[in-house]
Amino acid sequence: MKDTVCINVRTQVPYDVIIGSGLLSDTGRFMAALTGCRTVAVYSDDTVDSLFGRTVTDSLEAAGYCCFRHVVPHGEQSKNIHSVMSFIDAMAAHGMTRDDAVIALGGGVPGDTAGFAAAIYMRGIRYVQIPTTLLAAVDSSVGGKTAVDISAGKNLAGAFHQPSLVLCDTSALDTLPAATLRDGMAEVVKYGAVKSCALLDMAREWPDCNFTDIISQCVEIKRDIVSDDEFDRGRRRLLNFGHTVGHAMELLGNYSITHGAAVAKGMVRAARIGAAMGLADCTDALSEILSGCGFDLSCPYSAQQLFQAALSDKKRGTDGIALVLPHEWGLCGIHTVREDSLLSLLKMTEQWPV
Ligand code: GLY
Repeated sequence: MKDTVCINVRTQVPYDVIIGSGLLSDTGRFMAALTGCRTVAVYSDDTVDSLFGRTVTDSLEAAGYCCFRHVVPHGEQSKNIHSVMSFIDAMAAHGMTRDDAVIALGGGVPGDTAGFAAAIYMRGIRYVQIPTTLLAAVDSSVGGKTAVDISAGKNLAGAFHQPSLVLCDTSALDTLPAATLRDGMAEVVKYGAVKSCALLDMAREWPDCNFTDIISQCVEIKRDIVSDDEFDRGRRRLLNFGHTVGHAMELLGNYSITHGAAVAKGMVRAARIGAAMGLADCTDALSEILSGCGFDLSCPYSAQQLFQAALSDKKRGTDGIALVLPHEWGLCGIHTVREDSLLSLLKMTEQWPV
């Protein structure tokens, strides 16, 4: 197909990430890669379903599949165990077997939730990620992290379950409100800060970016990291840059702040912490790019509030909290700090100008 990029992720069971324009209406044809599948359950939210649900199910039906759409309200509040259970009940009611498959259609919230349902239905069935936001395209649709939120924190109940295929139709990005598109730029800047000066330069071009190139470069970085550390025990933790403070802010704001907006603030705070620890000072350069994308980088929470919320995050281990900090422009490293040191570092960097 014209201008289509295919990136193979080498996890225990490898899969392709296919990036191109106009793929949604060809979903049924791509599903042929999942041999034996007869019934497909398409999970999305009301916004995404009204835009793309019919296109996907028409394509599936034309290719001979039985399918149904399961639609939940949009937003982080739907990313919970009740959404998973109602979807699983619907799969059982449609008689889905272990040979059948789920399609997770939408942004990170439907992707993580439907992926988790696929991970546990009949002890795991196959699923396809069809990201329709920039954030899902560059990050959450690849790598097999599935989860829902619980009252103690974000993504605290989940499983590693790799998709069988990721279909990224870049034309879906044309339908996004500017704020939703911007949200994905936080993850793009994250990939740049962790591994690629070229991506940081591409982010400076916002909003006139070449999104196909950006998505391909982010997915290639993620492919390399996830192929090396599928289960997030080592190098993959680099992809948490900005997420310790970001997740804390999301929790403190009861998810009224979007993930990208929180990660943008979290990356700046992490850069300040790195500078305070005597590592590279990338704060100004990072703030400049993120402000250029339109992110508000102010932090409404005290160091003490952030610290308390961060304690519930998964990045906490018995030996401390793993922080991802810039070593130089376009390169980060992992530093495990004791919990009391994190509080001091958060206090030390509280008053810095934005
Ligand atoms: N979103 C970070 C990861 O997949 O590891």
